[in-house]
Amino acid sequence: MELNQNIAPIYEALKKLIADNTIPFDVPGHKRGKGNPLLQEFIGERACEFDVNSSKTIDNAIHPTGVIREAEKLMAEAFCADDAFLMVNGTTSAVQAMLMAACKEGEKVILPRNVHKSAINALIISGAIPVYINPGVNNELGISLGMSVEDVKQTIEENPDAKAIFIINPTYYGICSNIKEIVKIAHEYEMLVLIDEAHGTHFYFGDSSPFGGMQLGADMCALSLHKTGGSLTQSSVLLVRNENINSQYVRSVINITQTTSSSYLLLTSLDLARKQLALNGTNMINRAVELADYARGEIKKIGGYIVFSRDLINGDTIADYDVTKLSINVSNIGLSGFEMGNILRDEYHILIEYGDANNFMCVISLGDNLENIDKLVAALKDIKEKYSCEKLEIVKAEFIIPEVSVSPREAFYARKMPVLFTESEGLVSGEFIMCYPPGIPIVAPGEIISKEAIDYIIYSKAKGSLITGTEDLDNEYINILVY
Ligand SMILES: Cc1ncc(COP(=O)(O)O)c(C=O)c1O
Repeated sequence: MELNQNIAPIYEALKKLIADNTIPFDVPGHKRGKGNPLLQEFIGERACEFDVNSSKTIDNAIHPTGVIREAEKLMAEAFCADDAFLMVNGTTSAVQAMLMAACKEGEKVILPRNVHKSAINALIISGAIPVYINPGVNNELGISLGMSVEDVKQTIEENPDAKAIFIINPTYYGICSNIKEIVKIAHEYEMLVLIDEAHGTHFYFGDSSPFGGMQLGADMCALSLHKTGGSLTQSSVLLVRNENINSQYVRSVINITQTTSSSYLLLTSLDLARKQLALNGTNMINRAVELADYARGEIKKIGGYIVFSRDLINGDTIADYDVTKLSINVSNIGLSGFEMGNILRDEYHILIEYGDANNFMCVISLGDNLENIDKLVAALKDIKEKYSCEKLEIVKAEFIIPEVSVSPREAFYARKMPVLFTESEGLVSGEFIMCYPPGIPIVAPGEIISKEAIDYIIYSKAKGSLITGTEDLDNEYINILVY
């Protein structure tokens, strides 16, 4: 690396601002916490002092020319990109900026249907038209996989006018598509390659981790540094390669929706997370991989549980696998992943990242240790002894192949009326319905509601999943299109 990754420009400028006892006659009105002792007690004096407004010495995220710009350049270098943007509204806003920068109204984008809802919401905002590819499926585990290169090739050939292809790297369960090949094909057709790397920040640092999209030639990647990179929740990064994309244009797209009051707590946390990853990320991620491998071995010894591993790799729909997603199939135990999550939380005070009908997943990351892994293993052993019952059938989960009637944007703005969800089969949905997490729509606006989708939502709700997307918070009614 050519830049000095040992510095953290935003952090250092903020420390100077505070050390100079600068008097704040600007917002935020809590004035370094003094105006809200409850807040001070909650997050501490230091955090309150650092919650400041942009000014000359600490730059401004909407038009950075000082320390924020410097931090962006350091971030870009650390992640093998030409440029980087610090995002304070999560990877949701980074995904939306990528899609809005790549496609205008009416232009096509190719994407797998098991995308996070932020991608489909971007289509509502931009008016881009989705061309869905159904990802591979593993019916023994009940999970969706990556896109097969053959499917991508065929879809690109059938839609040579598409402006971009959107890839997830990795999926919630750690599955990676063959990005290198997909980039090659897409670029031959002058399509941009956009990657949702919400769960892949650590890829850029671990010696044995899958590669990050930027390392494989993608044009833009959206990374949740807050998920596996060590920054504060809601802080993310958008990476750009300049060969096919103009950074200035991307910034103007980001500025359409990004706040004009970026939190310096979030920005600084990105600066410090980048510094730590650049200096020590490889050791830290390698350690997380070791811990995950250890957990995998111990859980296998218990029996019954099926722990996902690199053995799944098939060179196509699973081109690589992220072992730090400790993903476990529990159907042999007779429990759903939802129920495992509930039992672990309520009886063992252990929180998992995500559970579905068949599996659950724990994220192993920078802050984990052997003691906590051993507690998880002991809990799983105990649960197997206490709860084992008849094996459950695998339920098709995560996403259900949709029949699209109209575009997400047309459906979102159409005339709608609520009907009972249980009686909505065959009608065109005007809104989303999904389990959260993972936030992958079971039904998206513009899709015909199938019996399979209704059954899956009813099943997931009964098993304790949080169902979101409908205006009706009780999920009894869904808005459908009225013609
Ligand atoms: C695959 C994927 N993409 C995007 C997002 C959105 O990220 P954020 O919560 O940082 O906005 C998530 C969130 O979980 C996700 O799982």
